[in-house]
Amino acid sequence: MQFTRRNFIKATGASVFLPAIVGRAFAAEAGAPLPIPEVMDLGKGNMGELTAQLGRHEFLQGKSTQTAGYSQSYLGPLIRMNRGETANVRLDNTIEEPISVHWHGLHIEGYLDGGPHTPVLSNTPREAALDIEQPASTLWYHSHIMERTGAHVWYGLAGMLWIDDPDAADNGLPETYGEDDLPIVVQDRIFGNDGELVYTPRGPSLMMGYRGSEILVNGAIRPEASVPAGLVRLRILNGSNARIYHFGFEDGRSFHQVGSDGGLLPAPAAMNRLTLSPAERAEIIVDFSDGANVRLMSAEDGNAMGGMMGGMGGGMMGGGNAPVADPSGGFEVMSFSVNQGLTAKVTTLADTIAGAPVPEFGEPVRRRSFRLQMMGSMMSGSMKINGVEMKMDVINEQVRQGDTEIWEVSADEMQHPFHVHGTSFQVLSHRGVAVDSAQIGLKDVVLVNGKAEILVKFDRLADANAPYMYHCHILEHEDAGMMGQFTVA
Ligand code: C2O
Ligand code: CU
Ligand code: CU
Repeated sequence: MQFTRRNFIKATGASVFLPAIVGRAFAAEAGAPLPIPEVMDLGKGNMGELTAQLGRHEFLQGKSTQTAGYSQSYLGPLIRMNRGETANVRLDNTIEEPISVHWHGLHIEGYLDGGPHTPVLSNTPREAALDIEQPASTLWYHSHIMERTGAHVWYGLAGMLWIDDPDAADNGLPETYGEDDLPIVVQDRIFGNDGELVYTPRGPSLMMGYRGSEILVNGAIRPEASVPAGLVRLRILNGSNARIYHFGFEDGRSFHQVGSDGGLLPAPAAMNRLTLSPAERAEIIVDFSDGANVRLMSAEDGNAMGGMMGGMGGGMMGGGNAPVADPSGGFEVMSFSVNQGLTAKVTTLADTIAGAPVPEFGEPVRRRSFRLQMMGSMMSGSMKINGVEMKMDVINEQVRQGDTEIWEVSADEMQHPFHVHGTSFQVLSHRGVAVDSAQIGLKDVVLVNGKAEILVKFDRLADANAPYMYHCHILEHEDAGMMGQFTVA
């Protein structure tokens, strides 16, 4: 089978309108062991090789599914890079259409960023040398081709990327990979009765973003992780195209967030619910020392167009969002079973986290506004920012290197996760209310409900041949044009 547009846009007749995570065409088996991705360590001059390829993967028992991945059938290896080093990776592509490897969250120059202007063409390998100069953090990578990002990620062209800082002070957090430091890539998918993935965004599922009826974690359906009876660090990535998760444990237990998109938080933040919109990451510490098995749940995603979903509140401006229900009464994401045979290496969490990045922003010298717009898109099929849809040959904004700016982002009709390439930013305010950025950390995606103000600064360069992007990370919105380009000079 070819990885072509024809196959992606396979007609199914099924209407995909905010499918709820209940009732399935067939019962998918949950509870397989949590897959732990293979590590590709690019530290100390190691050269890695990442090849986009088609594959077949067994998600459903006895059924083989057409997929895509980086050097594996679905998703890619967990890549680790060290701060202060150059990470070298050879990129190749055996798929018969251009793909890319966008390093989401890396502060690297535009020509290395892997956006739509720098595709990896079929069987045309390239080498990338990435200078890593940013704090330890949980990032990811994914394909980012104009109008194709949604399909590419849906079929599997994504993976996690962790930055380690060999010189940072010991933060005391769990760090034994695959034991008490777990990658958790959460995605929702739709499978047809033949076991194939179904990706047919159009009409309402294009407007609201394309959501799945089945939950995968690291490519397995609602898997089970075996954990020690101590503190466990979950590095969660919302790798879904559109779904917003409101996570919580079935027993309502509290946990601590210790990191967000751009690195660690200065202090652990206690909570029992965590909302992550597409592309956001959070590192949380969960205490399993009571030995009880527990399921990670999520409340339903109520993000929909206010104007179309009458009665969901919010109206046409500022997002129509159903109130978030208690996650413990929602759907299962995965489960944890405590294994007394495993040694708990970390049992206490300090009050402050050593090595958390200290934000360095100057006085803002400019203010820009970005209005994410869906108006008229039902008719035209295009979505816009500030009245224009993404055009590969149009540079929308020009930024000066080293300048600090305030970007005011407003989201019409529904909530939009706004992402900026090439930097990490601070959220200043949301809906006019000041945000304590120390609590939420450095970000590269912010879920905008109404209006948000962010403080941004760009240290890396991007010219007009390979500009940076800003866009909505609901991938169907991005592919429909809710994206813009900017240079840094
Ligand atoms: Cu995660 Cu422009 O992308
Ligand atoms: Cu990005
Ligand atoms: Cu959007």
